[in-house]
Amino acid sequence: MNLFHIIEVQQFKDRGLLEDIFSLSARMEKLDESKDLSLLLPSVPRRKILASLFYEPSTRTRLSFESAMKRLGGDVISTEDAPHFSSAVKGESLTDTIKVVSSFADAIVLRHYEEGSAKRASEVSKVPIINAGDGPGQHPTQALLDLYTIKKELGRIDNLKVCFVGDLLYSRTVHSLVYLLAQQNNIELYFVSPEEIRMPRDIADYLKEKGCPFFEQETLFEVAHIVDILYVTRVQKERFRSIVEYERVKDSYVVDKQITQAMKEGSRILHPLPRVQELPPEIDSDSRSAYFRQADNGLYLRMSLLSMLLKQ
Ligand code: CP
Repeated sequence: MNLFHIIEVQQFKDRGLLEDIFSLSARMEKLDESKDLSLLLPSVPRRKILASLFYEPSTRTRLSFESAMKRLGGDVISTEDAPHFSSAVKGESLTDTIKVVSSFADAIVLRHYEEGSAKRASEVSKVPIINAGDGPGQHPTQALLDLYTIKKELGRIDNLKVCFVGDLLYSRTVHSLVYLLAQQNNIELYFVSPEEIRMPRDIADYLKEKGCPFFEQETLFEVAHIVDILYVTRVQKERFRSIVEYERVKDSYVVDKQITQAMKEGSRILHPLPRVQELPPEIDSDSRSAYFRQADNGLYLRMSLLSMLLKQ
């Protein structure tokens, strides 16, 4: 299958494609460790260029994409605070910006605050658009690195019980990973959140249609002992219309030692990061806490995707 734009995880239904991405990611990690750069992107007739356009803040996604591109031997042009330091300030539309930047680069990684923005960008771009988060919509490369992490940590991506806890309404990483997991075999999902920020109904309907069982509840302790993966998310203050609503739900769940003691020996805790109060540093030393290893995997997964998109 030929990849061009990466907009949503529904593009990754093909198990063979997932396996290719994961095995190339593992190869990238080995090459990087051994400093063997034989898989560099072609630099003739010129080095490939990645444009990173970020209209929302980012640490992991932007810097891992930029690092990935440079490690592959490519180059990067970027605007890290596009709402203030690009011509968006002067009123330029996203689609006009994309039309122009797609002449300057071989691929564009885009993070934007509007759901659907990456798709709109892909409709006018001459080069691949990689969705690095479109508001509360999707974050497909995060979901791929999450699934890659599950594969590395547990040795499988089928036969899993996965619990998502926290902000299920606004978390694009949750939305993407739920869609991606629903495409695997024998997956059981548990959604734990306050009523105000529960899973969007269109995603719940999708799961029903796919026949993927899911259970919604407000208590984490009840499910902690049965899950293989506990995927924790931050309550996203920036997406709430009122600070009062945010304050009401922000401390609903904390994955502390009481929760980890209830969890299975072979389970894992994931979090896309950044974290705030929901994941206290006291559990970092638990070998099941895999969130920093998960962030590390982002670099290799993104090297793999860039190399697949830009090798031609
Ligand atoms: N996980 C993630 O998307 O992190 P950043 O917001 O730092 O890119």
